[in-house]
Amino acid sequence: MTKKAESLMDKITSLAKRRGFVFPGSEIYGGLANTWDYGPVGVELKNNIKQEWWKFFVKSREDVVGIDAAILMNSKVWESSGHVAGFNDALIDCKACQARIRADHLIEDALDMKAEGMTPEDMTKLIAENSIKCPVCGKIDFTEARKFGLMFKTFQGVTEEDKNIIYLRPETAQAMFVNFKNVLNSTNKKIPFGIAQIGKSFRNEITPGNFIFRTVEFEQMELEYFIDEKDWEKLFDYWQAEMEKWLEYIGVKKENYSIRKHDQDELSHYSKRTIDFEYDFPFGTKELYGLAYRTNFDLMSHQNASGQNMEYFDAENNRKYIPHVLEPTFGVDRTVLATMIDAYTEEEAPTADGKSETRVVMKFNKNIAPVKVAILPLSKKENLSKKAKEVFDLVKTEYACQYDESQSIGKRYRRQDEIGTPYCVTVDFESLEDDAVTIRDRDTMKQERVGIKELVGWLKKSF
Ligand code: GAP
Repeated sequence: MTKKAESLMDKITSLAKRRGFVFPGSEIYGGLANTWDYGPVGVELKNNIKQEWWKFFVKSREDVVGIDAAILMNSKVWESSGHVAGFNDALIDCKACQARIRADHLIEDALDMKAEGMTPEDMTKLIAENSIKCPVCGKIDFTEARKFGLMFKTFQGVTEEDKNIIYLRPETAQAMFVNFKNVLNSTNKKIPFGIAQIGKSFRNEITPGNFIFRTVEFEQMELEYFIDEKDWEKLFDYWQAEMEKWLEYIGVKKENYSIRKHDQDELSHYSKRTIDFEYDFPFGTKELYGLAYRTNFDLMSHQNASGQNMEYFDAENNRKYIPHVLEPTFGVDRTVLATMIDAYTEEEAPTADGKSETRVVMKFNKNIAPVKVAILPLSKKENLSKKAKEVFDLVKTEYACQYDESQSIGKRYRRQDEIGTPYCVTVDFESLEDDAVTIRDRDTMKQERVGIKELVGWLKKSF
């Protein structure tokens, strides 16, 4: 990472903690690697992203329905999906400093090439041939690369025996496949149609940090779109365009992401074509979302292993077949991070005494901004507080709203700028006379006087 990029990540991580977006997990006990907790502002941002996604991909469409499945599933699900045998990372240990590192990341960072799909033996050889140094201590003294399973295991019941092993799901997708027939029978959907889900997934990741980019517990928003095989190419392009529309909808700037097609040897075991939406994070250009053509691998595997019929009956053409699947997949936490990076702005702003200062403002798209409106009485005087609380009561039923009378108005504006509140409504002594308030726009800092009776209507027009 360059010094400038490092400092941007430091600034965002520190703002996240200072303003209540994201805190380090279990912090008072020294933390727990790769876990983070969302604070009061962060949870609103994250919830808004999830709600907007659900609106965009489920509620506003006739061809997609949602589910909310159990995180714990029968182990046979993960055997059939290929995860028990094949979902692992090659790790390498530095014998000098005991750091445990992902071998593919070590190669990618040192040689600027993709290492996905390489065997541990190939990686060991490449690392030795290029005398790649340990990024922690700088020595060249590695073990061989070995595979480690990425799924968290636990036990169901009281005895910790192998037969009782169950896994925390590493993706939400499999619940859509095992429920394919349940959804089909309960909704009478016709192909093409999709099943969507938002939920937690877990992976035992060994990573060098990068804030909430790669964590052991994270949320996914996934959509499995069931299709007739013959339509896969045109529908693949269609879903790529929908994903681009989504990014525009939540305000991720086009110049900050790109689309990369997976090489043949990089494809997952189930995929015939995959593209990554890659975002220019300060620590490198990395996967934000994915779109995969999973063929009929999953339904076929579950049919074979469970003995349950997964066929779809196409009544119009009197034909039975196992549907193929297109999968647009989105990480919630990576969306939070990308939108925070996109929103982070430093600009010069005039102060009350005619000087200028650097203002930090999170220019979130209004539809995901954690707090939409702040009500700020100019002083704590009783009659002003009373009036301001009346305004707060008026607005809070319509918009996520904060009431704040704690410090100087300048400090309160700065706080609202840092959490990205689009509108600050100031109640001043004149308000007691003219029954009007001043609305300050987050981005332009322009102020407008609006009658209290017109306020909600004004906000409705502006959001
Ligand atoms: N069902 C397909 C699937 O799970 P994936 O590329 O492994 O594919 C999908 O994951 C998305 O989930 C990624 O694009 C990313 O946004 C998010 N994701 C994956 N692993 C993650 C992790 N350890 N921490 C945070 N987000 C992660």
